[in-house]
This record gives sequence, structure tokens and C-alpha cells, in this order.
Amino acid sequence: MLTLGIEGTAHTLGVGIVDSDCNVLANELDMFRPPQGGLHPREAANHHAEVVADVMSRAMEKAGVSPSDIGLVSFSMGPGLGPCLRVAATAARAFACTLGLPIVGVNHCIAHIEIGRALTGCSDPALLYASGGNTQVIAFSEGRYRIFGETQDIGIGNMLDKLGRDLGMGFYAGPEFERLAREGSRYHELPYSVKGMDMAFSGMITAAVALHKKGVPLEDIAFSVQETAFAMLTEVTERAMAHIGKDEVLLGGGVAQNGRLRDMVEDMAHARGAEMFVPDRQFCRDNGAMIAWLGAEMYGSGVRMDIPETVVRQRFRTDDVEVTWRV
Ligand code: ATP
Ligand code: FE2
Repeated sequence: MLTLGIEGTAHTLGVGIVDSDCNVLANELDMFRPPQGGLHPREAANHHAEVVADVMSRAMEKAGVSPSDIGLVSFSMGPGLGPCLRVAATAARAFACTLGLPIVGVNHCIAHIEIGRALTGCSDPALLYASGGNTQVIAFSEGRYRIFGETQDIGIGNMLDKLGRDLGMGFYAGPEFERLAREGSRYHELPYSVKGMDMAFSGMITAAVALHKKGVPLEDIAFSVQETAFAMLTEVTERAMAHIGKDEVLLGGGVAQNGRLRDMVEDMAHARGAEMFVPDRQFCRDNGAMIAWLGAEMYGSGVRMDIPETVVRQRFRTDDVEVTWRV
């Protein structure tokens, strides 16, 4: 059976089509790039509404299928920005109702871990999920995916994007930080905020802007930001792995595309005799294939939803979901 999944939690509207073995037949997307400043939920939602039909058609064309070949529709039910979530949900409901298909709403964070499990060959990893809006360490324990550590303020990607804006970089500053950091070499101290298993990133923006005002070169700022922020992520991930006894670590989220973060986590994993897994780039960032795959797994394990149960949940917690598809 083929599942069509629609992702729409933040700036990406993605549509993926997968079969019951997680062969990805299509994974199309269209990302909203704000003309200036940060992401405005309403503007992103308008963008999603404009492109969703086209991205769905492109995905079916890429997969070489027609709507009548689809057996299940899934969509990102949360967490995310309300207006964006509602566009994805509305498109999914319209498609499902028109074709008389079952519909399943899924948790976006869990979708990141499930696509990684399916495509990289790890079986029971701790997930370091580092994206724009989310920064969490998640692992399966006693029937649920539980959060073992997370940011107390903003996601690490948002920190990079906001700081990038203050430093005059374009939106979506993560890749630019990575490029600059490779040229940097002098480390300047920045707030290392790990409290228990939780992290905070906003203090780093103020401190890094102060370095900039003092004339520290952007390369050294980028280097120092990456070393500090990624060390925080790596420390929390390592402690979670030690605490719950996992010997696999999986990376997910847009920031997982960063080579320096991968190196740090890989070194940590090797030092503990563990293994690191990273899905292909297109499955690290927000994408429709991961939503399709989690929908397929949930449906396969007996989950059914009526339309009234498909309301979006902006603050949908990872541990709210009873995991019925794995033991
Ligand atoms: P979510 O809804 O899960 O919070 P998102 O909407 O932020 O995700 P993603 O595509 O998962 O979307 O991640 C985007 C983030 O990843 C942006 O903050 C971007 O700056 C960051 N990013 C992308 N590439 C890199 C990189 N090479 N290094 C660091 N950060 C990166
Ligand atoms: Fe995400």
C-alpha cells in the first residue's frame, strides 16, 4: 500500500510517498523563505496554501502514480506553527475525503526518528533532533518516545538564524555558519548553558553579538558558536545514552546536516563503543517522506482516526504518543 504524507509544521511544505517497506517513491518540497526578518506563521501558511496542490501533483508525478494508487494519507499534526499545521491538515483531509481514504495525523518529532530507523539500519537509537524550532534528545523507553533533554528556550537552528540575522547573514544562516567556522581558529568563550539535561541557547546570541561589536572576525565567532553549542548537544546526548543504555545515536533535524556536529557526535559515540547514524540530507530536514512513513507504521499497527480527531496540536509532545508499532 502507498502512503502520501504531508509535512507542514514550519517553513517547509513537503509531500512524500512511501510503500509499506519504506521505499521512498517521492519526496518533494517547497520551502518558504521570508523576504526579510524571521518566519511569520501567517505568511508561511499562505505560502503553503499556494504551493500544496502543486507539490502533491509533483510528488505523484515523480512516483509515477495517480491519486487512485494511494491507500493512506498522513499529515504532520504537530508540534508546530498553528496556521502552517492547519494548511497541511486541511489538504490531507480534502484529499482523503475526496478519494475515500483513511487519514492519520502524526507527531513530527517522532517522524524524524522513525524515518532514521527505517533508512539507516539502526534499531533502538537515542535521537539527537536538532532543527530550527526543536532541540531534543529522544529515546524509546517503556512504550513511548521520551524526551531526555531539551532546550529551555529556542531551538539551536533558530539561535543560528537569529544570530546570523544580527550579524548580517541571509536567512537560514546554518550553512553559512558552517562555512565560516571552517575558516575560524580562535576560540572565544561563550555561555555554555547545560542545566541538568536541558540546554539554553538565547544567551549565546547576546554574547556573540558583543564579540562582533568588539571586532572579533565572523569566522572566529562562527567557530566559537559551533564549538560551544555543539559541545552542549553532544554532552546531553552522551549522558542520555549512558543513562538509558543505548549504543546507537541517530541524528535528525536540519542542523544535523552540519559536518562539525556530526564529527563531534561521532567521536563521542566511538569513545563509548557506540555507533552513529545519519539519514541522507533530504531526510534530516523537514520532509514529507518521514510523515508518510510514520503514518504507514501507525496505520499498520491498527491506528485509525476519524476526521474530528485530526485537529492539529501546536504543542504536541513526543511522549503523548502511545507507540503501537514497535516493542
Ligand atoms: P522543525 O520544524 O523541525 O523545527 P525547521 O522548520 O527548523 O524544523 P529544518 O529543515 O529541520 O526545519 O531545519 C532548518 C534549520 O537547520 C535552520 O535553522 C538552518 O539554519 C539549519 N541548518 C541547515 N543547514 C545547516 C548546517 N549546515 N549547519 C547548521 N545548521 C543548519
Ligand atoms: Fe523537523
